[in-house]
Amino acid sequence: MTTTENGAEKRALTGKRALVTGGSRGIGAAIVRQFLKAGAEVLTTARSAESKAPDGASFVQADVRTLAGAEAVAAAAQEVLGGVDIVVHNAGGARPHQGSATIPDDEWLDALNLNLLSSVRLDALLTPGMAQQGSGAIVHVSSAAVPTPVSAFLHYTAAKAALENYSRGLALELAPSGIRVNTVSPGRTATPGGEATRELWAQVHGDAAAPAVPLGRDGAPDDIADAVLFLVSGKAQWLTGSSLVVDGGEFHR
Ligand SMILES: NC(=O)c1ccc[n+]([C@@H]2O[C@H](COP(=O)([O-])OP(=O)(O)OC[C@H]3O[C@@H](n4cnc5c(N)ncnc54)[C@H](OP(=O)(O)O)[C@@H]3O)[C@@H](O)[C@H]2O)c1
Repeated sequence: MTTTENGAEKRALTGKRALVTGGSRGIGAAIVRQFLKAGAEVLTTARSAESKAPDGASFVQADVRTLAGAEAVAAAAQEVLGGVDIVVHNAGGARPHQGSATIPDDEWLDALNLNLLSSVRLDALLTPGMAQQGSGAIVHVSSAAVPTPVSAFLHYTAAKAALENYSRGLALELAPSGIRVNTVSPGRTATPGGEATRELWAQVHGDAAAPAVPLGRDGAPDDIADAVLFLVSGKAQWLTGSSLVVDGGEFHR
């Protein structure tokens, strides 16, 4: 995304420092690449040491399901970027099960830690600095499936539903500090995590045909990254507390 100022080409995120969790593959990697292209300095995270950040981004190995992981990421953001202007909470996911009663307790806790509390903890560590700057943009990545929960995934959609509620509350709290907070909710998107989940789903539930996407195809990681880039850019200055569903129309019917 570029803007033209006095005839000069200026990239939309020039001078911005961005943290993107889970940027080694899938939607997170697409967000990192688009932010770099838009001129931002980017730090990203993943759990495994073998994971690689897209070229041009800095990387910190951390598990954001834990408080210690969130603290490590916040410390790296200070050390590497000197603070943050943009935070995208992208790391997320869960395994599908036969039904609600077969979701083990530890997977409920994992789902809540990864899809809700990772954002809560990291925001608590980073937003005081952003408030001091008087500006910032935060995006929480949820799921378009939240309004239509299915039994195999109740831990996941319940955690994402709580994330959306939290995100809206945080937006209202931080608006006077100049910090905008929004949610992006992807539909079925072609990523390593998405494909692995759909394979597990087929093992548990059989190969039931997926509902057709009205726009005729699954999402690409860049479809989601486009929406995130818009929300953190100057083109969305009057947008906060909103939820942008990016799903080709799948969950809108
Ligand atoms: N793909 C879809 O169809 C779809 C649909 C709706 C919503 N979403 C949401 O979109 C987001 C991205 O999904 P995706 O499909 O791109 O996922 P993905 O392909 O599985 O990639 C997930 C990324 O997050 C990292 N990650 C996972 N757990 C982590 C942890 N505990 N701490 C730190 N990093 C972690 C992974 O690296 P490591 O494994 O090395 O940690 C990887 O970089 C998620 O929040 C997901 O719920 C996806």
